[in-house]
This record gives sequence, structure tokens and C-alpha cells, in this order.
Amino acid sequence: MEVRAIEITLGSWPCDFLAAAVFEDDWSTLERLETGWTERLKSLAEKRAYKGKAGEVLILPMPGEPTLAMVGLGKRGPLGQETVRQAAGEIVRAALRDRGPRVLFVLPETPGWALSKAAAEGALLASYSFEKYRGRGEDEPPRFEVETLLLADGDEAGLQTGAILGEAQNYARDLANEPGNVITPESLAETARRVSEESGLECTVFDDEAIRQMGMEALWSVGKGSKNKPRLIHLSWKPGEAARERIALVGKGLTFDSGGLNIKTGDFMRTMKGDKSGACAVLAAMSAVSALRLPLEVHGLIGAAENMPGGDAYRPDDILRAKNGKTIEIDNTDAEGRLTLADVLCYASDLEPAVLLDIATLTGSCHIALGDYTGGLFSPDETLVDQLMEASRLSGERLWPFPMDDERLRKKLKSDVADLVNAGSRYGGAIFAAMFLQEFVKKGIAWAHIDMAGTDHSKEEYGYVPKGFTGFGTRTMLEFLLNRAGRTGA
Ligand code: BES
Ligand code: MN
Ligand code: ZN
Repeated sequence: MEVRAIEITLGSWPCDFLAAAVFEDDWSTLERLETGWTERLKSLAEKRAYKGKAGEVLILPMPGEPTLAMVGLGKRGPLGQETVRQAAGEIVRAALRDRGPRVLFVLPETPGWALSKAAAEGALLASYSFEKYRGRGEDEPPRFEVETLLLADGDEAGLQTGAILGEAQNYARDLANEPGNVITPESLAETARRVSEESGLECTVFDDEAIRQMGMEALWSVGKGSKNKPRLIHLSWKPGEAARERIALVGKGLTFDSGGLNIKTGDFMRTMKGDKSGACAVLAAMSAVSALRLPLEVHGLIGAAENMPGGDAYRPDDILRAKNGKTIEIDNTDAEGRLTLADVLCYASDLEPAVLLDIATLTGSCHIALGDYTGGLFSPDETLVDQLMEASRLSGERLWPFPMDDERLRKKLKSDVADLVNAGSRYGGAIFAAMFLQEFVKKGIAWAHIDMAGTDHSKEEYGYVPKGFTGFGTRTMLEFLLNRAGRTGA
């Protein structure tokens, strides 16, 4: 999809689908359209008892002219990015149903950088669906695509930034939706190499032997039960002198999580192809960092492995030594994400970044605590929590902070036979996992962890979120980076 700004003061409407976003109690946006259209829209709205509640859509087909539509923004107030993103998403969904290839979108106020960016994101995100492997029925029309989104009096730079963010997240969705027979640690590494080549990133891949030689026995062990051996993927964006600071992003890349010898039952094993969602978000964010040419040195690190049972699999009771020398007793082979990340966090710490942020489908506990629509945020650093909560508010990807100061809970990390144990009591499982990760971050580095178990996947389509894998976290990381880069539109 192409996104572009258009001046509507010219009074020309080069589109097939013309949509006005209105507040619930104030339809003044309609005054920017032609009077004939306004009257017809108002009378249809009356007939249908249309109010303009948030996300509410009204369609007026106009033979020989563009279809007219209204989308609600909810009660009048200062317009935020998420409201505009949702509205743009609803409009693109409606245009897809109406089969209008060129959409013109009008907001109640002239959108600046931020709102233009949000409109582009919503449009791109809502146009996504994963159809690669799906045939179409005989009576099913061919897939239709919206070609252009024109934003009335939009800000061109904002639109292009939003397009980069939206496309990145759609890429993360595409990759996460690929099944475990297609994406293995090696093919994920191959994909990362290709993306790096296209985006001008550096890319180094370490195979299982190299992983072992670097002393990363935790990551190595998680992957050893599978024929598809683990990989450590290191991407970097280095803008030279322009770099204000160094930031490292770490993603959990379990290309499939069967649970290992502590094997999952059927229902829990479904969707575990998406246990690489953190890695997908990191890879997608890295490609966007390059497209945005951010003045930051950014490293993207992915611990890729397949957790499988078998004759070579690691076992409960095994004792492993991570890269920083700490030993770990295995209580449960299904708590593999934290082991994978442990070694990658050690590796990332050696880069001495100003901020180290990891994202992972880490615990069922987090999903139970927060539900399907909110990710967990864990950090001992309050400033970082504030900055990431602000990034989340802007991106519309909900996050909620968990406490990291429960020293009694932290004691549960202790093992009788090793420095640490990889799993303990079910209660507080998401915090336990985060505290475990913290053991592998070098003291003094500002670190935060996002647990995206639950938000990685959606059972239903809503707003601009598709059914299947969501690409969650991609835009929040990018919002955070845009902010650190001082790029907030001004
Ligand atoms: N990948 C899972 C967590 C998960 C669950 C992600 C649901 C997405 C949706 C993780 O590796 C796992 O299995 N965690 C266990 C840990 C337990 C054994 C301590 C869990 O949460 O049950
Ligand atoms: Mn697991
Ligand atoms: Zn897992």
C-alpha cells in the first residue's frame, strides 16, 4: 500500500472510498467535504442511529461516485495516535469489504507528524492477512488490496515513518506465522542474513559449535535435542559518528517449543511455532531502524533454537553453565526461553549498551495475569519503565509493569546443587522468570524485559489486529528508539 498526503483545499477527491473521521458529539469534519455528500451522510446516519462511537463505521454507497464513509473517534478530546490508528484501521477494513482501491481519509483536525504516522500505521496494519499457504474456494472472489491511502492535509514525513513502522510489524507477523517446518534456527538465520543484506545491516551468525565454544551451554543445551541445531544471530546498525548511544535488543527465537522432555500436551503445544515472536519483532525492528536511518548504534540479538524431546535432548536435573559462569539446575525443560535468553543477555552485556531490552513469549503466567491484550514489563530501572510505558502508550501496544523488588520471591531462584534453578513455584511465575533473566545482565546496564506471551497471538480479528500472530512489540521498540534518537516529529 502506498500512503501519501493530499491537499483537500483543492476540492478534488481522487479516490474510490472517501472516509471522514468524526467525534461522537461533533461531526464538524463533514464540513470539509462537499455539501451534497454531507447532507446524504447525515440523513443516512439518522436512519441508522449512527453516533460516531469509537470505531463505529457507516457506509454510503454512491453509484458513479466515491463511496462515502464515516468512522467514529469517540467523545471529543485531544486526538491521540491510537485513536487515529484504530480509525484508519477500521476505514481500510471497510474499504477492503467495499473493494475501493484508493482511500481518502479526512480527520477533524490537520494531522501533524504524529497523527499522520499513526494513520499510516493503522492503514497498513489493518490491511494485513496471512494467505501464503491458503487456496481460494471457487466462489470466493480473488483477494482484494487497498492500493493507496491519501491523508487529507497529512504530514508527508509522518506518513512515511508510519509506513516503515507498519510494514515492519507486518513483516514480523509474516515471519511468526511461518510454521516450524519452514522456519528453523538455520532458516531464521538465513532470513536474518537476507534482511541484513537488503537493509545494510551487519549480520553474524554463530552455529551450535561456535555457541558451545563461546561458553553458552544454556542456549546450546536447549537446542541440542533437535536435528535443527541452535544459532545465535547478531545484527547491527552502525551509523558511525552520528550514533548518540548504543542500544541492544534481544529476542527469544524458539522456532518451535514442544516443551522438550517435559513435553506440552496438545492444546498447549498449538501456536508454539510463534515462540519465536520476540525474535521476529527484533528482526523487523532492525530493518526499520535502518530504513529510518536512526542516529543510534543498535544491535539485534536472537537466540534461535528448537525445543524438542529426543535422545540428545537436555533433561530435568541437568546442570548447565551459562556464558557468565553461573550454573543452572534444570527443573523443567519447558522453561527453555529463560535459558536461551540467559546466554544471549550475557553476550549482549559484553557489548556494554546504554540500554538492553529483551522481548520474549516467556511465560504462561504472564498471559494469565494480564490477559490476551496486555504484555508484561519488567525492569528494576524506573526511568526505563517510564520511557517504555510512554512508548507503549504511543504505539497502542498495551504494557503493564510488574514489581521486581520482591526479595523473598527472588530467593526461589536458589538451587541446592547449582547457582540457580530454571523454574520454581507456579505463583509469580512471570516475575520469577524475569528475575532469572536479571542474573545474566551485567550490573550497571539499564535493562528491561517484555513478556509477550498472550499478546503474540490473537484468536480473533479486531481493530487493526489480525487473527494469528500479531507482531506485538515491534512498534513499541521502535517508538522507544525514535524517542532515544530525538525523533518525535518536530
Ligand atoms: N513458550 C512458553 C510460554 C508461552 C505460553 C508462550 C503460552 C506463549 C503462550 C514457555 O517456554 C513455557 O513453556 N513456559 C512455561 C514455564 C514453566 C514450565 C515454568 C509456562 O509458562 O508454563
Ligand atoms: Mn517452554
Ligand atoms: Zn517457550
